[in-house]
Amino acid sequence: MLILFVTLIIIQNACSLTCKDILDMPKNSKIKLYELETLQPKEIVDCISHLGRIKLNISEAEFIWNSIIKFYNEIPLIPDEILSCLHWVTIAIKPEEYQNLTLSNIDIITNFGLDYDLSNDQLVAIADRVREDFGAKQPEDYTVYDLTALRQILCAFQGSEIKRIHPKSYKEAALLVRKLKNCSDDVMEGFASLATHKDAFGPPENWKRETICILGGVVQYLSENVMSKLKKNLGNDILEEIDKDRTLEEECN
Ligand SMILES: *[C@@H]1O[C@H](CO)[C@@H](O)[C@H](O)[C@H]1NC(C)=O
Ligand SMILES: *[C@@H]1O[C@H](CO)[C@@H](O)[C@H](O)[C@H]1NC(C)=O
Ligand SMILES: *[C@@H]1O[C@H](CO)[C@@H](O)[C@H](O)[C@H]1NC(C)=O
Repeated sequence: MLILFVTLIIIQNACSLTCKDILDMPKNSKIKLYELETLQPKEIVDCISHLGRIKLNISEAEFIWNSIIKFYNEIPLIPDEILSCLHWVTIAIKPEEYQNLTLSNIDIITNFGLDYDLSNDQLVAIADRVREDFGAKQPEDYTVYDLTALRQILCAFQGSEIKRIHPKSYKEAALLVRKLKNCSDDVMEGFASLATHKDAFGPPENWKRETICILGGVVQYLSENVMSKLKKNLGNDILEEIDKDRTLEEECN
């Protein structure tokens, strides 16, 4: 009986991974679900910044998220350091679970603002938290740093909130805004209305092709009147410019 017991312990140790084993894995090798399932919640928590770094599928992300909840007993007790480095684990968080999270600091917001192709319901739940928890800061107060942290969360805001952002902050963050994915028309129109402000890029009459490049997709939300002026000044092919340069932002300058 004792021998069997000892053998079982050895087998279990041989198969179960620790955070250290994961850190020792070759760089960029991706941990498999069956390997994750051998990790105790403590090992998962210790290794969280490493585990979230490479794209996870939903089963892997859910396993990790549930292990984190198990380790801390409940969602509100999960520390800020963990929430700030969830990365791909973020896809496992359900919209209703955001009711129990506090997104009050910029490091946490940075985690949730990255592009994980979250559902609209998830992004809306995150935006609601930001309104409530980051509430000392209103859109008028957002700096380029805040916008850089918020990123995709901005796409779940109302156009009316986007219009309240200071045009100067938008200008400083414009290269980042052009890379946002799946923003609603309402939000894009908000950015377009900031673009022509004197504290942003000023009257479109003075824009160069470079300005079009910096603005990216936002240009398509300018009024038809402004668009026809731009085409007249800069050439009919400016829209091609937007698509062509989308991934080459260094070429805007
Ligand atoms: C996620 O990846 C694991 C391998 O790590 C695989 O076994 C599992 O079927 C995948 N799940 C989904 C939902 O794609
Ligand atoms: C929020 O936390 C409370 C207390 O821990 C818990 O009872 C409730 O189920 C949680 N809600 C969600 C959606 O996780
Ligand atoms: C975002 O857009 C891409 C294509 O542009 C689409 O494949 C994806 O499903 C969209 N995501 C959401 C959350 O709507």
